Amino acid sequence: MAVRDLDEVIEIESLSHESSWTKGNFVDSLNAGYWSYCLRRLAEDDDHPDELMAYCVLMPSIDELELLNITVHPSYRKRGYAQKILGIMDDAALSRSIQSIFLEVRVSNEPAIRLYEKLGYEQVGLRKDYYPLTSGGREDAIVMKKRLIRL
Ligand SMILES: CC(C)(COP(=O)(O)OP(=O)(O)OC[C@H]1O[C@@H](n2cnc3c(N)ncnc32)[C@H](O)[C@@H]1OP(=O)(O)O)[C@@H](O)C(=O)NCCC(=O)NCCS
Repeated sequence: MAVRDLDEVIEIESLSHESSWTKGNFVDSLNAGYWSYCLRRLAEDDDHPDELMAYCVLMPSIDELELLNITVHPSYRKRGYAQKILGIMDDAALSRSIQSIFLEVRVSNEPAIRLYEKLGYEQVGLRKDYYPLTSGGREDAIVMKKRLIRL
C-alpha cells in the first residue's frame, strides 16, 4: 500500500465498516512502517483498468503481529482472497520469527469471525463496549489469537 492507493482504499473502507478508518489513519500506518498491503487485479486492457480488490494493515511488535484491518471489496468477497492474504501474512511473520497474530473483531461480524476461526484463530478475550455503533450505543470486541507454527 502506498499513498497513491488511498483514494481507492477509502472508498472500499466506507462500503465495508461500521466505523471506517480515515485517510489519515492509513497515512499514519504507512508512516509508522506497519505492514500494509494491497491486492490488485492487473489491467487487462483500456476497458478493464487495474482495480483494488483488497487490503490489509498489520502492526508488528517484537514477536507478535496485530491485524488492524483486512478488507475485501464487496464485489470480490467469498472467493478466498482474505484467506489467501492471511496465509501470506502467516508465512511472512514466520520468516521473521514472529510467533503469533492477534486481532479484535466486533461480536456481530459473523463473516470475519468465521474467517478467523477457519484459519486457526481462537478467542482469548472479550472487550466490553469496545466499538461505537452508528445507531448509538457500543458493541463488544472479541480478542482472537493465532499461534504460528513452522511446518
Ligand atoms: C471478512 C472479510 C475480510 C472476508 O473476506 P473474503 O475474501 O470474502 O473471505 P474468504 O473468501 O477468504 O473466506 C474464507 C472463509 O471465511 C469465512 N467467511 C467469509 N465470508 C463469510 C460470510 N459472509 N459468511 C460466513 N462465513 C464467511 C468462511 O469460513 C470462508 O471459507 P469458505 O469459503 O470455505 O466457507 C470480508 O467479508 C470483508 O471485507 N468484510 C468487511 C470488512 C471486515 O469486516 N473486515 C474484518 C474486520 S477488520
